[in-house]
Amino acid sequence: MKRVNASDYAETIIKAIPKGVLVTTKTDRVNSMVIGWGTYGVEWGRPIFAIYIREGRFTREQLDRNPEFTVNIPLGETQPDILKICGWQSGRNIDKVKEAGLTLVQDDDFSVPGVKEFPLTLECRVVFRQKQEIALIDEKFHGAYPQDVPGTNPMANRDAHIAYYGEIVGAYIAE
Ligand SMILES: Cc1cc2nc3c(=O)[nH]c(=O)nc-3n(C[C@H](O)[C@H](O)[C@H](O)COP(=O)(O)O)c2cc1C
Repeated sequence: MKRVNASDYAETIIKAIPKGVLVTTKTDRVNSMVIGWGTYGVEWGRPIFAIYIREGRFTREQLDRNPEFTVNIPLGETQPDILKICGWQSGRNIDKVKEAGLTLVQDDDFSVPGVKEFPLTLECRVVFRQKQEIALIDEKFHGAYPQDVPGTNPMANRDAHIAYYGEIVGAYIAE
């Protein structure tokens, strides 16, 4: 792995998010999910990557058990099959690392691995978490929370998001 400064890749990171990047978590198993929302910035004088994870996701359970994650960002073309499996299937039901053919790259100094296929890796430690209160969200976005879809389905959208702010404690390119 080649260590880098995350800020040197700020434009790459921000442009990649709406196209889909991965968030990887690890407990007794590793799981990756696709996110399309995320915020890269600064708070408490530290570089922060915030992710917004709906309450029903398996990733939420993983983060409750180990509050560290990596953000995995493509450099170049993404592989649509990986996005399809990691964005439409829950780790509750399948082993996504195996099914999506992810090659994990372990950093000895961080609990959660990176993913070679999405090589730009941000190592993040959760320093703040908060469930978003739908009543406080601008009404124009309330369509994102249809209340008629059950909570644990991978495409379930009724739940609010939990914002997890991860302090970026390391960054590298997985090789
Ligand atoms: C392009 C795309 C973007 C997504 N963005 C998010 C997101 O920002 N937050 C979220 O909670 N789910 C998002 N999802 C849905 C999750 O990836 C999906 O529910 C996944 O199955 C969750 O995996 P898990 O249950 O293993 O955690 C997105 C899905 C796609 C395809």
